[in-house]
Amino acid sequence: APILLKDYQPTPYLIEKVDLDFRLNPTHTTVRSKLTVRRREGAAATAAIELDGDDLKLDGVCVDDIPLAEEEYTATPDRLMIPAPAAERFELTIDTSLDPSKNTQLMGLYVSSGTFCTQCEAEGFRRITYFYDRPDVLAPYTTRMTANKKAYPVLLGNGNLVESGDVTGTDEHYAVWHDPHPKPSYLFALVAGNLAHISTDYTTSSGSPVKLNIYVEHGNETRADWAMDSLVRSMRWDEQVFGREYDLDVFNVVAISDFNMGAMENKGLNIFNDKYILADPDTASDADYAGIESVVAHEYFHNWTGNRITCRDWFQLCLKEGLTVFRDQEFSADERSRPVKRIADVQRLKAAQFPEDGGPLAHPVRPEQYKEINNFYTATIYEKGAELVRMIKTLLGERGFRKGMDLYFERHDGEAATIEDFIKSFEDATGTDLRHFMLWYSQAGTPTVTAEATYDAQAQTLTLTLSQETRPTPNQPQKKPLVIPIRFGLVAANGKDVGYSKVEGATVNADVLLLNEAQQTVVFHGISEKPVPSLLREFSAPVNLRSNLSLDDQLFLMGRDSDPFNRWQAAQTVATRLLISRSRGENLPQEASFIDALGEIAADTCLDTAFRALALQLPSEADLAREIGENVDPDAIGRAHEDLRAAIGQRLYGYLRDLYVELAPKDSRFDPGASAAGVRALRNRLLGYLAASGEAEGHGLVKAHFDSANNMTDRLSALVLLDHLNLPGKTEALAAFEARHKTDHLAMDKWFTVQATCPAPGTLARVKELTNHPAFSWTNPNRVRSVVGAFCAGNQRQFNAPDGSGYDYLAETTLQIDGKNPQLAARILNSFRSWRSLEAGRQEKAKAALKSILDSGQELSTDTKDIAERCLQ
Ligand code: ARG
Ligand code: ZN
Repeated sequence: APILLKDYQPTPYLIEKVDLDFRLNPTHTTVRSKLTVRRREGAAATAAIELDGDDLKLDGVCVDDIPLAEEEYTATPDRLMIPAPAAERFELTIDTSLDPSKNTQLMGLYVSSGTFCTQCEAEGFRRITYFYDRPDVLAPYTTRMTANKKAYPVLLGNGNLVESGDVTGTDEHYAVWHDPHPKPSYLFALVAGNLAHISTDYTTSSGSPVKLNIYVEHGNETRADWAMDSLVRSMRWDEQVFGREYDLDVFNVVAISDFNMGAMENKGLNIFNDKYILADPDTASDADYAGIESVVAHEYFHNWTGNRITCRDWFQLCLKEGLTVFRDQEFSADERSRPVKRIADVQRLKAAQFPEDGGPLAHPVRPEQYKEINNFYTATIYEKGAELVRMIKTLLGERGFRKGMDLYFERHDGEAATIEDFIKSFEDATGTDLRHFMLWYSQAGTPTVTAEATYDAQAQTLTLTLSQETRPTPNQPQKKPLVIPIRFGLVAANGKDVGYSKVEGATVNADVLLLNEAQQTVVFHGISEKPVPSLLREFSAPVNLRSNLSLDDQLFLMGRDSDPFNRWQAAQTVATRLLISRSRGENLPQEASFIDALGEIAADTCLDTAFRALALQLPSEADLAREIGENVDPDAIGRAHEDLRAAIGQRLYGYLRDLYVELAPKDSRFDPGASAAGVRALRNRLLGYLAASGEAEGHGLVKAHFDSANNMTDRLSALVLLDHLNLPGKTEALAAFEARHKTDHLAMDKWFTVQATCPAPGTLARVKELTNHPAFSWTNPNRVRSVVGAFCAGNQRQFNAPDGSGYDYLAETTLQIDGKNPQLAARILNSFRSWRSLEAGRQEKAKAALKSILDSGQELSTDTKDIAERCLQ
């Protein structure tokens, strides 16, 4: 049965203090947990204490140091219950034993490349010891670890180190860590291993010294420098922008190679997928550098939004995740280019969240039920959750937003809070009524906003007829109108926004119009020339916008809008229309003007180079499938895409080539910063069109680009073109890349992904071969994602092959992985989320593959079963 938000009940007992003692051994670790337990005020004296477990082996249980008799408790691998604890306050001692070496789920305590590490969010702590493994039970923790000194010289825990030393007469040593900040169990962590580290001394704005350490495998020290740099900048930024300081003597970060997710914000001891720590020019692309910066920031920012203030229950997950994503997005926007960051974030939202919201896995930003919480670490909770915070800021303005945040921190520090608490802080701090806004948290689905503009020259009015509609989603057949902030401008022929004397039909604050009904007619008066409305500037709300603007109007905005986001959006809108028409066999007459407009942007040195690179990027095949929405034929889309790229390459060939040559780096020094990365991005985009042109010279340039690359970004861009366009030199380049990087797993992941995403037939066979490559491993999530995940989520044409072979492969692979790592299996299975929008033949094959998972006879994890069932619903 699902768990329901409305069933929330506090526990009858509180945990005042947690004392843990680990004796670490890869195959036999023992854990002694001493809990100071107190009955909650108002709870019945007869209330049982009922603790969560998962796959646990109990070795003994004592109350106030006296072992309980068998009839005084019940214990199963997933529950420990003491029906009637005698006292109001007592000490409960629980002994369990574990085999971390056999923990392939990567939840709880496990071993990764010989290092002990933990992952407890969401429900992993119960795989270590019996506990109230839920986010609203907060306590200070003390962790003692004992381990072999030679094999595990580094022993790390939450909080500050209070004691360490050798265990006399043995080859063991120990460490004791104390975390004074009350926290829920999901923030517990420990690490023990033979690791190297880099350190920096940081002083907070109020003068407290903090030691920052990043731990990596020996030999990888210099590859952690960028992560350290990112950490220091994040800490400073949070002080300056949110007034938040760090609160312990030490902040430790550890890079681990087997990790289900990106990273984890454990108090004072962040644990990372090594992909988000390790970087050097030879093995990391610019996207990797940007990813490291944002994930390091994200986990650090959780210290206040997640740790100091945590969630009452997992339904409130977006309270910490949406807010923290918003914070890391703002950080990157300040560190880099704000418009470029906004475009990248919207691309990601549309690519990951819109399909989720439009398919069988749709759920509200605050769900009301779940069967498996791990399946709710989704783009909706994270990315759409961040958009809701951004809209609050748009509604309240910069100052109002900051006041609300300050009040939230002041009121709820040390607590487990709810979305209501969060919203109330903004209401109380600014005197704004946000009741209507709350609907964004409970109503799933992406609204479509339709806008029609008519200009009346006689009356000098511009009338905008706006309407909104949200299609039904699972369990929500009927939708209500939301409050949608639409940032806008009315653009005159000279590119400037025109003013107006008055507006009727909607509340307009500065450049933000509020749409809060199903339909509204908004009239702007005093407009003397016909403007082109630029709507949803900066993507001010997570909606689909449909307007009656002509292609010529869109081309005008693409060239002239003062909002860079909408310039980019207009280019996307035009390209989308051209591509969809092409996929239906028609060529629109505006294509030539569009291509020329791209050429102008390419060469416009007043624009940020990274922006130019983005504006030159066509919507992806997946974007087009989403826009088409039903009866999708991925092959027709793929052909249209190839053809338009070729047309661009041919029409602008000489021009783009000259620009490509002009942008060549002047010296060989590598700079990972945003502006140097922007030049590489633009140059590689140009190269893509030169390659697509079919010109032999262009093909030669690609091979030369590959051969002369002195960094991963350039090498990888060229490799993708060589492989995906099957250009001369492809085989040699793949071999050269493999030879160069064969011992580096993260670089080899890129080599895998390039091949798994090749749109040509035969790729599935290649994918199967790649899983036999010595660098591949079925137990490492990064490897699986780089081959299987990349193929299923990143190869529209071949995953959706009309014979259903891609679907069958995903079904088989899911079953194969599910027995070992359910989270990973359920995650890759998400690639079925849009199956209903395909044409009938593919739908049938996809449905059969999904059914085959449920009918396989294999016992399924709750994770995989939940996704398969919801996809089929
Ligand atoms: N809180 C982590 C982050 O976003 C994600 C951890 C998710 N882990 C999981 N097993 N579902 O930073
Ligand atoms: Zn997070």
